Amino acid sequence: MKLWGGRFKKGTDTLVNDFNSSINVDSRLYKEDIEGSLAHVKMLGKQEIIPNKSSKKIEDGLNEILKRLDNGVIEVDPTSEDIHSFVEGTLTYYIGACGKMLHTGRSRNDQVTLDLRLYLKKALDNIVSCVIELEEVIHKKASENMETIMPGYTHMQKAQPITLAHHLLAYGEMLRRDIGRLQDTYKRTDQMPLGSGALATSTYPIDREFVAKELEFSDVTWNSLDSVSDRDYVIETLSALSIIMMHLSRFSEEIILWCTNEFNFIELDDGYSTGSSIMPQKKNPDVAELVRGKTGRVYGDLITLLTVMKGIPLAYNKDMQEDKEALFDALDTVTLSLKTFTGMLDTMKIKKEVMRKGAAGGFTNATDVADYLVKHGIAFRNAHEIVGEIVIYCINKNKAIDELSLNELKSFSPIFEEDIYNSIDLLTCVEERQVIGGPSTKSVKIQLDRLAKFIKEIKGGL
Ligand code: ARG
Repeated sequence: MKLWGGRFKKGTDTLVNDFNSSINVDSRLYKEDIEGSLAHVKMLGKQEIIPNKSSKKIEDGLNEILKRLDNGVIEVDPTSEDIHSFVEGTLTYYIGACGKMLHTGRSRNDQVTLDLRLYLKKALDNIVSCVIELEEVIHKKASENMETIMPGYTHMQKAQPITLAHHLLAYGEMLRRDIGRLQDTYKRTDQMPLGSGALATSTYPIDREFVAKELEFSDVTWNSLDSVSDRDYVIETLSALSIIMMHLSRFSEEIILWCTNEFNFIELDDGYSTGSSIMPQKKNPDVAELVRGKTGRVYGDLITLLTVMKGIPLAYNKDMQEDKEALFDALDTVTLSLKTFTGMLDTMKIKKEVMRKGAAGGFTNATDVADYLVKHGIAFRNAHEIVGEIVIYCINKNKAIDELSLNELKSFSPIFEEDIYNSIDLLTCVEERQVIGGPSTKSVKIQLDRLAKFIKEIKGGL
């Protein structure tokens, strides 16, 4: 059934019908569509825009449709134009002519953005709880690895020793910002657009604030043209989701490297790896690779919406129907990526000894040798020069700095004494870095406590 047949003498071309239809995508909004209609019709009755008796009858009809769809007694008709047409058509079929009053004082333009906002508020909460589950695993793994020394890198070259806890908590921070972005997006999604009509509200004495309250929105939207043509909240969501994927993708890249034969820092659980059809020895990190690959897909969804919106004049234009496919795809992809990634991280085996050995090579304590000289009165730039020479010497002798004798060290600077060995021990290098944000047990403990507090706060608010 078409909602707009009156003005037309001829039916729609079959191909155009398919092209125009969005039911395959927006049938996902059936609950929100009915929820929105229930609030709207209650308001119509309360304001005496339609007889109270009719509004009650419509409410009963809508509740019946919801119940039947929920338990599978009926299904969304795939030949309907969209979910709004389907619900209204079914209502009239169930309760008769009275159903035709439902659309008084609204348009599909304000209806569709209401549905999407209702859906997205729940979806945002859901993504936040998936991110929190990952944060919990990061917290657990970090607590277990406060003394697991590993090399920290810059330019993919060994730089300074850190701990695995310190490394993991870097992702803890990134995800924390991700949650902040999702919460911020939520605030702007939490505005109720119904009553904006097609673009210019309506002449009926509708009560938009009542509808907002019924549907648990914190605010209404404040300009009807903007209300029906705004998809910023979708773009903001896609942008926050893209950044989450960027973080997961970087983490995935490290996981992939860490389980190579060359690094050998971790081993993924069998449940989170796959094999090769030809090479019997293979155990591949497909989950991490897929997360990395799906990142491009979510970026694509963001670019889709930015591009759809960039050239359309006010107010509603049909281009905007493209919003839902991209949004749903990104929400599904990110949810699945977060869940599988969390399981993979939770079950991976950490090879602490290999990590420690990795930190022992590559002169990761060279900065600490320079710092030793600085603490004994040498200017940092001169100390840097001296240690540079020591490193060349070590490379020629194929030795680590701490393997040099005191005499050898003294030949570079008479300042070196026996205590140099303790000062450049990997554990000392880590533990001496007690600055806020650093790798020492003391600093990491603070980061862990902050993260635990954050997780608790967010879980309390969900
Ligand atoms: N299916 C449409 C969408 O998703 C609903 C709004 C249609 N409005 C209209 N005037 N054709 O955007």
